[in-house]
Amino acid sequence: MFINFWYPMALAGEVTDKPLRTRALGLDFVLFRDAQGAVRCLANTCIHRGGSLGSGKLVEGQVQCPYHGWRFDGDGRCTHIPTLAADARIPARARVDAYPVAERYGVVFAFLGDLPEDERPPIMDLEQWGREGWSVTSMVYDWNASFDRVIENGLDATHTEFVHPSAGLQGGFDPSAIRGQRLVTGPWSSACQMETDRVDIEHGHHGPSQQWTFLTFKMKGFTGKFRFYSFVRPIDAHSVRRYLFHARDCQHGEKMDADMVKTTLGFELEDRPVIEEMRPVFSPRDALTELLLPEDEIMMSYRRFLADWERRGWLIDDVALAERGRRKVFAVPGPGRRETRNWVLEPVPLVSPAA
Ligand code: FES
Ligand SMILES: [Fe+2]
Repeated sequence: MFINFWYPMALAGEVTDKPLRTRALGLDFVLFRDAQGAVRCLANTCIHRGGSLGSGKLVEGQVQCPYHGWRFDGDGRCTHIPTLAADARIPARARVDAYPVAERYGVVFAFLGDLPEDERPPIMDLEQWGREGWSVTSMVYDWNASFDRVIENGLDATHTEFVHPSAGLQGGFDPSAIRGQRLVTGPWSSACQMETDRVDIEHGHHGPSQQWTFLTFKMKGFTGKFRFYSFVRPIDAHSVRRYLFHARDCQHGEKMDADMVKTTLGFELEDRPVIEEMRPVFSPRDALTELLLPEDEIMMSYRRFLADWERRGWLIDDVALAERGRRKVFAVPGPGRRETRNWVLEPVPLVSPAA
């Protein structure tokens, strides 16, 4: 799991007039709406004595800890300590990490890391959102699998024949049907493009945990574009919540929307047991653990990107987190840590780039 990327934390409609506790990267966060109605995201653990802010309440757009009533604003600063005299100073260390938030596509994203704004990798663009001529459906579901296995499944073109009988596929494979396989890379992404007589296919990843699949059908009886976008939040090292969007420029209408959701959920049910049972649980970074073939080129590319982000020091040491996390509370360092030192919670352990 990586810090310094945007993660989908909740549906916008789930953040109401109560704080919402949510889990990402093996740590707890709290979401709430401030007095202006903007969603804010803080580390969930109160730095006084460890209360869970997500179980507190909102007071004038600030979150109040359920244990002794300390209040924190959207920037994570403690604004009120009930036991202090009115003229007493609130200690400078009385603050929790706050994370940048963006509401997009009906989802609340938080940037879980400390990079300054101009260095942050962007959120994947769902360019058909709100665009005329496109219908978009969405769904949310959880898998007991590591985020990288889930993303790689979205990148994997050759499993479809074998895992998805619901799409009318029977496990036959004609290698000559696939032509022109091409890898395209960007600063945060890579994609594999290929074509068959019936459909042009593109699978790509954006960052470690966002992924797209584009299908452009060109059959006699059916032409049209399907665009799948998947935003994955690692809940912890072994489970994810996936926010999946499907955009299409054809077959509009409510009935088709419902059919699309049903079909996509059918695929989900077919994929899930296969991915949840893969071993190792995490996708390997070395070249020896699996026997990849040229058609798995995009997997290798994705893993090269992960290795690069690991070299930047962004990979959470989930073994240390699991072991030490029983006795300690960690927080993803927010951008505020670049401005001031001396925070109560220890930063989440990261794999040292030299290791
Ligand atoms: S633990 Fe939060 S106010 Fe005491
Ligand atoms: Fe699949």
